[in-house]
Amino acid sequence: MPFKTRVTALLGIRYPIIQAGMSWASSNAELALAVSRAGGLGVIGAGPMHPDDLRAAIRTVKAGTGNPYAVNVPLYNKRAASFLDIALEEQVPILIGSQGGPKQHLARFKDAGIKWVHVTASPVHAKKAEEAGVDAVIAVGVEAGGHPPPDEVGTLVVVRAVCKAVTIPVIAGGGVADGAGIAAMFCLGAEGVQLGTRFLLTPESNLHPAYKAAALESDIAGTTLVGRGKLPIRVLKNDFTGEYDAAERSGRSEGELKAIYETSSLKLAAFDGDVARGKVEVGQCAGLIDELVPAGELVGRLVAEFDRAVARLAALRPVAEPA
Ligand SMILES: Cc1cc2nc3c(=O)[nH]c(=O)nc-3n(C[C@H](O)[C@H](O)[C@H](O)COP(=O)(O)O)c2cc1C
Repeated sequence: MPFKTRVTALLGIRYPIIQAGMSWASSNAELALAVSRAGGLGVIGAGPMHPDDLRAAIRTVKAGTGNPYAVNVPLYNKRAASFLDIALEEQVPILIGSQGGPKQHLARFKDAGIKWVHVTASPVHAKKAEEAGVDAVIAVGVEAGGHPPPDEVGTLVVVRAVCKAVTIPVIAGGGVADGAGIAAMFCLGAEGVQLGTRFLLTPESNLHPAYKAAALESDIAGTTLVGRGKLPIRVLKNDFTGEYDAAERSGRSEGELKAIYETSSLKLAAFDGDVARGKVEVGQCAGLIDELVPAGELVGRLVAEFDRAVARLAALRPVAEPA
């Protein structure tokens, strides 16, 4: 059975399950195609892509399914302008903007009939995005892999606060790995969910096998935040984070911390497979996942788990028999 929420209606999808845009991990066609074919929303992560590769990936997804899909563009990215032009030229149905304000871009996307969904870090940002005219917001808490909100507020609280702050549909993420997590987000008022780490652990994600193996091995306390107080990233604890933490604790200067930060990168882990020195971006919920599941099959599994979670909730408070 399809879901009926404002997110499924807005985006034209069967299930309100969005595979998060993830640099490297979803910077290909395979992952987005598998998710969109299965009735979720597949998202190509433009971040590290060459513009020609982005265009080719979009065309592969378009050719492979008639279902909606999206492109994620981090707006601070130095290639953001050309990513946005390509999205318009290729008439992608949905653009997911993050890490920057949407205002200056919205008019031409609206004119082209493209929905704009915006990633926000707080109720204040969500309200601003709503006032600017975005179609929906994504609220992600500190559990998330990649760039969680700098103020480090957890998913339970930030999602609830955003649901209270805006009237447009809210999509929730950060720490959601299964159907029980999805049900929890819907209880808070969200009408869709965005899962990153869960979809990163699929055969279709574009990551070195060592990256996936390290994430599978991790437990729920296996990640840490690097760059607190600035733009933090959540990564697996490893030699790089150990060195950074030690330098931070011993009060080393900003310049020294920056130098250590720059010895590492997501590419080093994602492409080269160096999981000791690279930035292995995953969320806390990696500790809830212990197998790679094909992305299309995963969508079906999440829906079945959601149904079981909702049935469990319903059974907690049986409707009283009429007297
Ligand atoms: C490897 C990785 C790369 C990411 N890259 C991006 C990105 O390019 N753009 C973006 O908006 N968010 C990015 N994120 C954040 C995700 O879109 C999503 O919000 C987050 O993964 C949700 O939390 P979860 O990992 O607990 O599911 C990334 C996350 C990961 C794990």
